[in-house]
Amino acid sequence: MVHNGIIENYMEIKEFLVSQGVRFRSETDTEVVAQLLAYYYGKTGDMMSAVYRVLDRIEGAYALGILSADMPDSFIAARKDAPLLLGYGEGCSFIASDVTAIIKHTRDISYMEDGEVALVKAGAITVFDALGRQMEKEHSFVDWDVSAAEKGGYAHFMFKEIMEQPEAVRKTISPRIKEGRVAFEELKLEPDYIRGLKKIFIVACGSSYHVGVVGKYNLERLLRRPVDVMLASEFRYADPLVDEDTLVIVISQSGETLDTMAALRMAKSLGARILSIVNVVGSSIARESDDVLYTWAGPEIAVATTKAYSTQLVLLNMLGLYFGDLMGSVSPAEYSDIVWELLDLPAKMERVLENTEEIKYLASRYFNHNSIFFIGRHLDYALGLEGSLKLKEISYIHCEAYASGELKHGTISLIENGTLVVALCTYAPLFEKSLSNIVEVKARGADIVALTTNSRSRELSKTVENILSIPDTHMLLQPSLGVVPLQLFAYYVALHRGCDIDKPRNLAKSVTVE
Ligand code: AGP
Repeated sequence: MVHNGIIENYMEIKEFLVSQGVRFRSETDTEVVAQLLAYYYGKTGDMMSAVYRVLDRIEGAYALGILSADMPDSFIAARKDAPLLLGYGEGCSFIASDVTAIIKHTRDISYMEDGEVALVKAGAITVFDALGRQMEKEHSFVDWDVSAAEKGGYAHFMFKEIMEQPEAVRKTISPRIKEGRVAFEELKLEPDYIRGLKKIFIVACGSSYHVGVVGKYNLERLLRRPVDVMLASEFRYADPLVDEDTLVIVISQSGETLDTMAALRMAKSLGARILSIVNVVGSSIARESDDVLYTWAGPEIAVATTKAYSTQLVLLNMLGLYFGDLMGSVSPAEYSDIVWELLDLPAKMERVLENTEEIKYLASRYFNHNSIFFIGRHLDYALGLEGSLKLKEISYIHCEAYASGELKHGTISLIENGTLVVALCTYAPLFEKSLSNIVEVKARGADIVALTTNSRSRELSKTVENILSIPDTHMLLQPSLGVVPLQLFAYYVALHRGCDIDKPRNLAKSVTVE
């Protein structure tokens, strides 16, 4: 038995099986499922009916592949709350959690839904619904090229994907801007619904949540309507003010994150309309949303997200423009200014990617630090959340993103001689405030690496020695450029530390467990 997920009630099942005389060889929940299947199969003599009895009994999230010596020419697949897809080949068949695992063998796939069971034979797959009735599955054709899932000569997928960001952003933006206007042809939301929107709630995890934090600042600025943002793992156990007048925007690269899926289902049960921003076509979250906007980042292999984050960011800003235009809350001048800067973003990203020497040098200087602060205000704080997570998850250094204005309320006591502070000063309206925060931590002995825009770099150099500088763009889009040096800093630090950059310890690309 191959199992992805977690069986939540495995202990009680294990106790029952032990009482029936079953002897276990491991402590895993997976073995409990296998032993329970053997138990029922021993009673029924029929594997499929035994599988259904197992599925009725186990609770939790699972994608299962089941083999038995009694079924030499076939195996069984089943799923609940964990991704599982079927691959149809020439005289061969596949199951996988992700397309990248089988794209070399077939592009003809279908996605299993919760409760379905598949009997898989070479060249023939039969699918049954939760009640055991045979059913037809819609097939999808995977159209991206195999090389997209290869390293393409780069040392790591993460570096390849950092370098792919200008193209990924270009592919995400350009089909949705026609003659200077943002157009979402794939959106089913009616203009009157958008004009009447009373509240937006953004829900996500990890880096996708960090996109939501930027989104809160930007969408409230553009729409002048309340925009809430919450971690999906908190939202699903809270009592959120969500109803039929709320649009819930769900953000997820993989489209399979269990916490985010659970939050989606809860929001739906509260009457909200669900719009998801997803990178994996046909993923569970995409299929359960009322509307889905795909980021065209292409397959992202590295566990630490980069290009998917960047494409989510631009897509959310474009949505803000689109809504703001319909609501009449964005002036024509600012609308066209932001559209112009969006179209110019890929070229500016390329400029950042061409100037990595200073980033490499700073990474070589600071890779041995074991406590780093990312401080910023407003969009710089949101940017710091992502910079901190990038560094944490691939270099294993303890980092913390902190709102600069909040430091004096306690945390500044941790700043001492040699503490590394990455000070983000790209949000122009608060540049002076951010500069004073740099002086504050410098006075307490901190080493400073500052990130700012080209127009502010000279002024900042009077106070800070180590400066990373990015091109100026519209203030709401500045995080799209600011994140690139932070990704590269994390990458080079992790390289110096000899960490497993593409597959960091304890992490998964798609978190399909609670
Ligand atoms: C990001 O680098 C991390 N791998 C992680 O925080 C990730 O963003 C989070 O698990 C959410 O994943 P999703 O976007 O696929 O839902």
